[in-house]
Amino acid sequence: MSKNIIVSNRLPLQIVEHHGEYNFVSTSGGLATGMKSVHQHGNSLWIGWPGIEHDSIQSNQWNILKKALIQDKYIPIPLKKKEMEDFYYGLSNECLWPLFHYFIEFSKFNQKHWNSYFKVNRKFADAVIENLQPGDYVWIHDYQLLLCPGMIREVVPEVTIGFFLHIPFPSFEIFRIFPWRTELLNGMLGADLIGFHTYDYQRHFISSVKRILRLEVSYNIVDYKTRKIQVSTFPMGIDYQKFENIAIEHFEQKKEEHSEIFNLLREYKMLDQANKIILSIDRLDYTKGVLNRLEAFEELLEKYPHYIKHVHLIMLMVPSRSSVPHYKRLKRETDRTVGRINGKYALLGWTPILYFYRSMPFDHLIDLYISADIAMITPVRDGMNLVAKEYVATRVHHDGVLILSEMAGASKEFFDALLVNPFDKVDMVEKLMQAIEMPIEEQQQRMERLKKRAQRYDVTKWSNQFMDTLKETELLNHDETSIKINETMAQTISSQFKNAKNRLLLLDYDGTLVGFHENPEKSVPDKELYDIFDQLCSQKNLDIAIISGRGQNFLDKHFGRYPMTLVAEHGYHQKLVNKQWKTTDVQNVEWKHHIIPIVETFTDNTPGTFIEEKENSLVWHYRKTDPELAKARVVELKTLLSSLVADELKIMDGDKIIEVVSSRVHKGVAATQLYARKVYDSVIVLGDDITDENMFADLPQEVIKIKVGTKQTLANYYFKSQIEVRPFLKRLY
Ligand code: UDP
Ligand code: G6P
Repeated sequence: MSKNIIVSNRLPLQIVEHHGEYNFVSTSGGLATGMKSVHQHGNSLWIGWPGIEHDSIQSNQWNILKKALIQDKYIPIPLKKKEMEDFYYGLSNECLWPLFHYFIEFSKFNQKHWNSYFKVNRKFADAVIENLQPGDYVWIHDYQLLLCPGMIREVVPEVTIGFFLHIPFPSFEIFRIFPWRTELLNGMLGADLIGFHTYDYQRHFISSVKRILRLEVSYNIVDYKTRKIQVSTFPMGIDYQKFENIAIEHFEQKKEEHSEIFNLLREYKMLDQANKIILSIDRLDYTKGVLNRLEAFEELLEKYPHYIKHVHLIMLMVPSRSSVPHYKRLKRETDRTVGRINGKYALLGWTPILYFYRSMPFDHLIDLYISADIAMITPVRDGMNLVAKEYVATRVHHDGVLILSEMAGASKEFFDALLVNPFDKVDMVEKLMQAIEMPIEEQQQRMERLKKRAQRYDVTKWSNQFMDTLKETELLNHDETSIKINETMAQTISSQFKNAKNRLLLLDYDGTLVGFHENPEKSVPDKELYDIFDQLCSQKNLDIAIISGRGQNFLDKHFGRYPMTLVAEHGYHQKLVNKQWKTTDVQNVEWKHHIIPIVETFTDNTPGTFIEEKENSLVWHYRKTDPELAKARVVELKTLLSSLVADELKIMDGDKIIEVVSSRVHKGVAATQLYARKVYDSVIVLGDDITDENMFADLPQEVIKIKVGTKQTLANYYFKSQIEVRPFLKRLY
């Protein structure tokens, strides 16, 4: 039976040493908590680092712990102190983490760190290869292992690999700064499917692939060497039911069963109905916006002193990467700021900020969630943020308010939260006040919608969607068994063609009849090509068409004198033999299959919108949606569509609608039209690029379809290079 191999830097369990004894504790962080439920419910093996310096553990102890881990289907990767310094703290957390979160000035580019990153990625890749069996799927996670997919692919080319990035992918302008950017992209492209939390990250990645590697990308498919790689968005969810069920259990507990923190907070609430508890939970990380949040809270007390004594900020900061200097500094600044605010405002029996610097057991975490009237989740940049989703899941009475940063991936789904710009202190204070004062009816209306979303897109749905899509990519890369044309084959094909009664020859121009030139104006037909056409056009019962992306003028100028059909601009204009140029009215709808799933996701994310499918266009209606929300979504959808489909589609604004119309008729439509004009008994089509694939796809099986070049193709034959085309054409007369 095939299994899923999960690979992440950290295992969800870590080994901790206490007075010479070793124990396992849970790992904090979105990746570990999210994937833990995936691991528990499926047939999988999880490869990762168990969170301890390997040098600090004796080998007999290690063997015992390793055995226990393996029993639970975890394969521990030992990392030594030096590797942790260079790979984990160095390149992963002092370079990639800040860069991908737009903290450019925090990023350290160090060759030694990079070398170690490379070696440790190789170590993980080797462990995967060692445990891999035919039919297994590999799912690699996050920025620490960006090279791993490529390294596995090199050794096992046929394996199916998925990669998911849990943090933002930055814009090209930021990503390009990274000195080993090409290596990173090539590493990621070892995967068959690359997933991101939001469209923005997907868009940024595709833009970097196009600009840095200069690869062809069609919609969300990257043409990479001989493979096609799919890039998609999968917003990660949580184990909603687990959080909700445990929250219900906690409400049903007796007073003596409750945790101390729960009882303490309940007492505070009972003192005065107006008392509000504001909660924030994060790893102590500069991306989480801790200081901005503290300042906004201070401002609230400063400007609106009537809240003094009536609000409590409970701040849980989980220690993280504490030997990195920027984290140390942040810890000092946080301590200082909390101390200052508490010193300034504390009264007998009331301290404005309750600050915990530790990780909490799961049950206490639930108690915090269910006790809080407001969750203030305001990172300055965050891939997704699962804490926001966990808060929503635990609101069993449908009350509570979520203040959520626009910079968190979760904001793309949680429109009913109070969305805030964490850099805008005025906005933060206003949202805090709005949350404190929000009537219960409004809280419930918003919370119900938030809950619906978190419940529908839970972690199971997320991982199933990812795995299903990964399996589908196998079809994408299915080898179409295109056959290389050798001497004998060329002989057979040409003699069959010559002996046929009615023949059709469809030819692409650039890359097929002529080679590529830096300046397309210089790619003009030469004498040899004209000689070929002189001969071809004098053959009986042979119809010839050049189907090109070039304009009418070019084709007219160079081929107008021949009795053949000319098709310009990929099929938009057509000139039959002895006829005038005509603009075609045939429409192409194939693009819709690619666009509909994208627009559907927006429809899911934007209550009140729907899709109308017209014969030749797609319309996204947003009349019934909240106008503010609609405005944001329209910009997002338009940006996404135009970045994905650039010159293939036209995106038009209408009255509370966006209409997407095909701006181009493709070559497949034009070729099929020509094919249908007569009954041909032999047809040959030659083309080299992605636009010619439409001809290969649309023309029937009996047509001899020849790809020029070695890229993935739907054609049944191929020539290795353009140089082989002319000798072949000469055989046809
Ligand atoms: N978390 C935890 N222990 C704690 C506090 C938080 O395990 O003491 C978990 C929390 O439940 C959440 C995760 O850590 O699942 C944080 O994930 P998030 O996506 O919010 O942020 P990340 O840490 O991944 O940046
Ligand atoms: C984020 C990252 C994870 C990481 C986690 C905790 O969630 O996306 O890859 O594991 O933070 O960070 P740490 O450095 O402790 O593993």
